[in-house]
Amino acid sequence: MPRTKLIAANWKMFPPPEGWDAMDSPYRATDDVDVMIFAPFVYLKTCVAAGLRMGAQCGHHEPTGAHTGCVSMAMIASTGCETVLCGHSERRRDQGETDEFVAAQAKAALTLGLFPIVCIGETANERSAGKAHEVIERQLRTVIDHLDVSQLATRNSQLAIAYEPLWAISGGDPTKPAAKPSDAQEMHAFIRSLLPEPIQKEMLILYGGSMKAENASELLSQPDVDGGLVGGASLKPEEFRAIVEAARTLEQP
Ligand code: 13P
Repeated sequence: MPRTKLIAANWKMFPPPEGWDAMDSPYRATDDVDVMIFAPFVYLKTCVAAGLRMGAQCGHHEPTGAHTGCVSMAMIASTGCETVLCGHSERRRDQGETDEFVAAQAKAALTLGLFPIVCIGETANERSAGKAHEVIERQLRTVIDHLDVSQLATRNSQLAIAYEPLWAISGGDPTKPAAKPSDAQEMHAFIRSLLPEPIQKEMLILYGGSMKAENASELLSQPDVDGGLVGGASLKPEEFRAIVEAARTLEQP
């Protein structure tokens, strides 16, 4: 079964961009390309009600409890969200999320029928020290080892990986370069090689880090790049539309 490209917008801690709910909004799913939006919690229900396919930017693995400021996977599922980001590098950095916590989030999400997108990526220092593959393997194996792979192999309980090298994340700087397409492909192929057999071919591996209109086509045309997790450029509706269009052009025979 061919992998349909997924273009996901991560709005981070920003409100929905102007025109987000228009009928021709670029944030709506299209026929050929899956589009999903990760918004701050307070916007999720409104966006779901307007017909967007939504996800939360994080979730807690326990259903309820004394965890001030947290929102559980069960609560996220109750808003009509389909998906959740687990272990985004900004949460690993700011909230101290560990590999084990990320793995527990992914497991809880799958149990509740949410589609977890697990974010992994190395820092600039780790890459220059030749440790990029070691870091990626550790982050990925911790998650895979926590999950029941036979559960993952069914089509309605999917998981995706987002490779987001920290040195390529824009952090609000639109001039920051993305990873070279060949470097992204090399790491995506490595990630795929680590996945267990039943899910190796069908698992989506997204790229994130300064994806924008000008580089989307080249990144998305790499054989193991199945979509994008777009931050800064997703806040500019026309730029995001161009990225979705680039994916759509590649999907057409
Ligand atoms: P940028 O697209 O702004 O580099 O952000 C990537 C990202 O962190 C998406 O989750």
